[in-house]
Amino acid sequence: MNRDREQERILSSYLSSCKLFSGCFCYDETGSTNDVCRLFGIEGFPEGTLVLAESQNAGRGREGRTFYSPEDSGLYMSLLLRPKVSFSDFGLITACAATSVHQAIQETVGISTQIKWVNDLYYNNKKLCGILAEGHFIGNDAFLVLGIGVNVAMPENGYAPEISEIATSLSEIAPDKKVDRLELCAAIVQAFDQFYNELTDRTFLDVYRSESCVLNQDVTFVYQGKNISGKAVMIDDDARLVVETKEGKILSLSSGEVNFLRPVLSYTERIDKV
Ligand code: BTN
Repeated sequence: MNRDREQERILSSYLSSCKLFSGCFCYDETGSTNDVCRLFGIEGFPEGTLVLAESQNAGRGREGRTFYSPEDSGLYMSLLLRPKVSFSDFGLITACAATSVHQAIQETVGISTQIKWVNDLYYNNKKLCGILAEGHFIGNDAFLVLGIGVNVAMPENGYAPEISEIATSLSEIAPDKKVDRLELCAAIVQAFDQFYNELTDRTFLDVYRSESCVLNQDVTFVYQGKNISGKAVMIDDDARLVVETKEGKILSLSSGEVNFLRPVLSYTERIDKV
């Protein structure tokens, strides 16, 4: 059996009791797992179809960025979703996904990551995971491709120069832990299954808030084309970030990116200050 089929067999057995999971396709190399998953979506594959690749040669990030995806260093996965919730609740799904990855990493690697609104995972100010959710509307059909990229190990030739200062990986953080990508992938899907099922009850929100590294920080962001700074004061029930600007205005952000005005204190530094 070749490696792809073997991985599909293993993943299917890990996820045999997961209600959401409906099949998986593993590839040695692909352009972007999100693109492959989109094609499955167009062809009518069911919710819970999972696509995984060892490497991507056209991995995408948010805001048109590329997502460097060499082999032996990352978990690159996409999950097909056909949400039954209203369109206005779609925004909850990425927050729910970030919480699921946070929980899965805690379970499988034993480290506690921080969630940078909307859906990046950080550890000691360095990025460990990014999530790209892409909605597709074809006639009356709407589906979502949830793409997740986790840095598992530093690439053999190092990170791409533009991210080398801000990226980290599970094996750098927990060198004694041998991370099994298929196990991690299955743990993410399992955790997501539960939170996604309870999406409208927002059971993920407590963890999403408590592990946020953005709350109570001074942040900058672009709002209606303008650079704004303010303080992140709350994450509301729709997972929007509520910011109080320097001028005292309250803004609720539902998408986009925030940057820190100054570096966020690391976890241990935070404990020392308590
Ligand atoms: C970001 O950090 O801006 C989001 C990165 C998302 C990367 C994942 S890897 C699997 C899936 N396929 C892609 O091309 N992108 C996502």
